[in-house]
Amino acid sequence: MRIGRVATAPAARGRGLAADLMRVAVEALDAEAPGIPILLDAQAHLANWYGRFGFVVSGAPFAEDGIPHVPMRRTRLGTERLVLREWTRDDSDRAFLFDMYRRSEVRRYIGDGRVMTDEAEVDDLLDRWSGLADGILGVRAVETADGARLGSVLLKRIPWSTGAGEGRPEDVEIGWHFHPDAWGSGYATEAAAAVLALARKHGIHRIVAVTNPANTASGAVAERIGLRCVGETRDYYDTTCVLYAG
Ligand SMILES: CC(C)(COP(=O)(O)OP(=O)(O)OC[C@H]1O[C@@H](n2cnc3c(N)ncnc32)[C@H](O)[C@@H]1OP(=O)(O)O)[C@@H](O)C(=O)NCCC(=O)NCCS
Repeated sequence: MRIGRVATAPAARGRGLAADLMRVAVEALDAEAPGIPILLDAQAHLANWYGRFGFVVSGAPFAEDGIPHVPMRRTRLGTERLVLREWTRDDSDRAFLFDMYRRSEVRRYIGDGRVMTDEAEVDDLLDRWSGLADGILGVRAVETADGARLGSVLLKRIPWSTGAGEGRPEDVEIGWHFHPDAWGSGYATEAAAAVLALARKHGIHRIVAVTNPANTASGAVAERIGLRCVGETRDYYDTTCVLYAG
């Protein structure tokens, strides 16, 4: 979905009417198609203004009619207790992500297990995540209804191990990374179930989750959202994982 041609008459400016217009537009789209990204091309100097409504820059700047623009994207999906939205470059989002990924208990079973040591690494991460956004695919921030950040749910294409994917379509992976302060409350399951339902509703029928064999907490989330444990595989990420699928 796309919002475009946002404009108010010169005489109507300076009164907050354009902001009202945007709020009504995003509320209507959220109600009509929850979880579906809303895209727009913003004049570059208005990127912060669109940021007030949850839009984040989602690609490289470009010129249209000689005017600098940036593509922007906004996603919002609500559950009983949670709101899933885009990660932003705001200090509070960046500080949360650093505080989550600097912890060994969070990184222990992710990739090589290395923790973040420098907040600048968050920017590289956000760049990588931005590149994963495609339709309903992407990495969503999860927070409570009153804005306490909890973690992330990922929905993305999963890389085949070397030589494993020949002739096979790419699978879509669901994943979850939560701050230890948010463990033990069912938040990961609630957020992941909402993303899984969204994916199914939009025609992604096979979804996989892969975990380190020792990561029983993560495997439990996969089973709670209805994925079935298939056993160990070396099909993805050039490593041995436990595969859940459904
Ligand atoms: C994987 C991870 C997200 C699991 O977190 P989690 O808190 O165990 O999972 P949930 O949010 O679904 O919470 C489930 C727990 O909350 C409890 N709970 C409490 N209140 C609840 C409620 N209202 N509703 C549902 N469950 C509730 C459940 O009983 C369960 O506890 P248990 O494991 O002791 O039985 C977390 O360990 C994590 O972020 N790890 C680091 C990153 C990582 O490894 N990610 C996976 C990579 S593959």
